[in-house]
Amino acid sequence: MKVTIFNGSPRKNGNTASMTSLLTEKLRAAGADAEEHLIYHMNIKGCMNCGVCHSSDALKECAIKDDAIPLLKKFASSDLVIFATPIYMWHMTASLNAFIERLHSLCRHEPPAVNKMKDKRIAIAMTMGDDEYVAADVVNSLLLFCEYFELRYAGAFAVPFADKEQIMRPLYREKMQDFVNKITKG
Ligand SMILES: Cc1cc2nc3c(=O)[nH]c(=O)nc-3n(C[C@H](O)[C@H](O)[C@H](O)COP(=O)(O)O)c2cc1C
Repeated sequence: MKVTIFNGSPRKNGNTASMTSLLTEKLRAAGADAEEHLIYHMNIKGCMNCGVCHSSDALKECAIKDDAIPLLKKFASSDLVIFATPIYMWHMTASLNAFIERLHSLCRHEPPAVNKMKDKRIAIAMTMGDDEYVAADVVNSLLLFCEYFELRYAGAFAVPFADKEQIMRPLYREKMQDFVNKITKG
């Protein structure tokens, strides 16, 4: 199973990175071929709604030739995609959101319909300074995203009141193991 983690945190050694490092370890232990990409440190713009990607019967490659192009291919060839983000202002980070906007280039609903995302499994892993309720809008928008683009929502994992110690606590290590077991199941 090919698993790709798109991490939107700006901090290479921050809370979200500590979480994804443990997550990658557990995914590999479960037999997955897992890799992580640090979106914030790449040149990735949001969609500019130019319409080029939807302008031919087969979808055309996104017209913005930045670092998102190889990542869109990674997304399309993954069995399971995990978005990882700290909660910033009750939402995912702007850099992760910019990348998600670019997924518009992988699906067209108008005939002839093409969907390179169909039936892919999607999960989300988050850290936040407050309690888990601050992630409500992120989870809700992901559910809407999955419904609209016909992806399969696999689950969410969150570390509230996050710091390095909290992430390593047995409670969250166990919850992460449950999350891995759930999202890697067919
Ligand atoms: C700009 C900014 C906005 C934040 N907004 C929230 C928020 O709305 N809710 C919350 O619980 N924590 C918020 N936090 C705290 C982070 O979510 C938390 O510290 C997180 O674990 C940081 O992860 P990182 O080390 O990967 O950046 C915010 C932090 C920053 C820097």
